[in-house]
Amino acid sequence: MPAELSPIDKAKYVAARRAVDFVEDGMRVGLGTGSTAAWMVRCLGELVREEGMKITGVATSGRTAELARQVGVPIKTLDEVKWLDLTIDGTDEYDPSLNLIKGGGGALLQEKIVATASDQMIVIADLSKQVDALGAFPLPVEVIPFGWQTTKALIEEMLSNVDVMGRGASLRLNDRAPFRTDEGNFILDLHLRRIGNPQQLSLILNQIPGVVENGLFLDICDVLVIGNGDGTVEVRDINNGTVEHERIDIIDTENLFVDGAE
Ligand code: A5P
Repeated sequence: MPAELSPIDKAKYVAARRAVDFVEDGMRVGLGTGSTAAWMVRCLGELVREEGMKITGVATSGRTAELARQVGVPIKTLDEVKWLDLTIDGTDEYDPSLNLIKGGGGALLQEKIVATASDQMIVIADLSKQVDALGAFPLPVEVIPFGWQTTKALIEEMLSNVDVMGRGASLRLNDRAPFRTDEGNFILDLHLRRIGNPQQLSLILNQIPGVVENGLFLDICDVLVIGNGDGTVEVRDINNGTVEHERIDIIDTENLFVDGAE
């Protein structure tokens, strides 16, 4: 790990560092997926190892579960824990109402189940994820492999009747084979450019047979922590209507890494 973090890693790190301040001893915490969420898992690992904090993590993907184990965050399944105090996760886009597009890493299904089963969802991001309207980032839709081309055709037909700017859908690939989610499903990425009515689109998408879930996270995020490369963070609380600005001291990130961890 380089001694000096790049500006983008600094932004992700300070967002993650500020977000773990919301975690209290004894909490059950949903652990998101992605590079920003990985910083949060490392920060939690440090709290567990260095300060003896007692928490139970529920991972939103196999790779997050693996990282959590490596850095010392105890993991249980959602069925063991049933309900969570808090989930902290990254995002691919956020709009002014803190609605999100997620699933760029392919973990949207578990991420949505875990966030929905939480008293509070805290999203960590940098300014590159900010948009006026959702849709510039392709919207991931998880579909079952059976009949996926028919499902894709139904989605494309539906898109011609809703308020979006683009209408293309593509099967996500991994080394020329279909990308598989942790559940073994496929992902269709919808190239919509601008989504006029996310609530309507989400409802209609999920009514199409073969669609398991879509990457629109609407009215789920409670707090957004935006990290910047200069070490400052902005904390937006949608319920209290507050926006706070703080500076995070980046003293030493070496402690975040343990042998064998990512
Ligand atoms: C994972 O499926 C996504 O929802 C991630 O939360 C999202 O892609 C953000 O990832 P980064 O933090 O790596 O940008």
